[in-house]
Amino acid sequence: MKILGIETSCDETAAAVVEDGRRVLSNVVASQIDIHAQYGGVVPEVAARSHIEVMLPVAHGALDRAGVTWDDIDGIAVTAGPGLLGSLLIGTLTARTIALVRNKPLYAVNHVVAHTFANFLYLTGDATGGGSAARSVSEDGGVPEAAGPVPDEPQFPLLSLSVSGGHSHLLYFESPLEYKLLGATRDDAAGEAFDKVAKMMGLPYPGGPSVGIAAELGDEQAYKLPIANLGDTLDFSFSGLKTAVLRTLQSEVGGDFRTPSSELPGRLSETQINNMAASFQRTVCETLAGTLKRAYDQYQPKSVVIAGGVAANTRLREEVSRQLPVEMTYSAMEYCTDNGAMIASMGYHLAKAGRTTDPLKLKTDPSLAV
Ligand code: KG4
Ligand code: ZN
Repeated sequence: MKILGIETSCDETAAAVVEDGRRVLSNVVASQIDIHAQYGGVVPEVAARSHIEVMLPVAHGALDRAGVTWDDIDGIAVTAGPGLLGSLLIGTLTARTIALVRNKPLYAVNHVVAHTFANFLYLTGDATGGGSAARSVSEDGGVPEAAGPVPDEPQFPLLSLSVSGGHSHLLYFESPLEYKLLGATRDDAAGEAFDKVAKMMGLPYPGGPSVGIAAELGDEQAYKLPIANLGDTLDFSFSGLKTAVLRTLQSEVGGDFRTPSSELPGRLSETQINNMAASFQRTVCETLAGTLKRAYDQYQPKSVVIAGGVAANTRLREEVSRQLPVEMTYSAMEYCTDNGAMIASMGYHLAKAGRTTDPLKLKTDPSLAV
């Protein structure tokens, strides 16, 4: 079964064709990072306008690169929420229209849950079915994953840490469509903390990758930063850590709490920036991995995966592999950040369960809960 997945919840316009929930026939992502970088973050109106411009070329590009036509597509899966309303609307209107015009079943996907499905995806050079055009493409110049053999898939029950710019969730899946939320952030998402700390230090947007690069040159023990104590819960909190970073940097430049954060980049040395990037990254990774380990001990799942943009962080991967007593496999970097393939993968399970959505009634929900 071939599903076209469409994703526009934030600043990536993405479409992909995935076969049977796992095999990526194409994965096209048009990133708006360059547009938003000049503002230091995502500007919702600009994001929506940009989605309108590239949505159809991206969707057609996904079909072309998969070597398929509309006749080969068995269903359309689309992110219905959570995300930015204007951005979500472009994807859902596109998917609803295609479903009506092409007479295809439509599947409404929860973006946060779908991130986990990135761990089931693989790209293969095998030409049968998908055509020899099977490949993964990133419009922003990212290096696509190389084709390889079929990897083992994660087993259920499955524990998933889904961490990105908009959310930090711990999910427990009994099966692909039976899941529950074990914990979530009480304030900032992990990726959001990366983005804000990067901005304080004058590192470019998006903050996750730029903090990661600066951290490689820094001493991760240079600064002792606090870890929120949330008792026995499996929740997260990153806003206290973000404030602690701000206060530490203010005192490093000889100021106090009144020193504007906008003045910090010009007054911090490169060593201070690298050391803080490394110390902050260590603290976030230890916190995330520590909570994941506690959830593992409590729930004893068969597999553990990490997902979402922050799952692309190599320091997090190291820490998770170190703390978890299971053999971890990680998804290709391009499936961690927002993409259409993870949406198509979850759409496949909705299709198998017959959970279609009426294209005339699909609801777009910016704060869709898990
Ligand atoms: O999943 P995603 O593409 O979009 C959302 O659903 O939010 O995640 C984007 C977030 C951003 O906050 C970005 O800074 C973070 O993921 N991110 C990273 C890395 N790559 C992206 N955070 C840490 N390390 C990375 N390598
Ligand atoms: Zn996301």
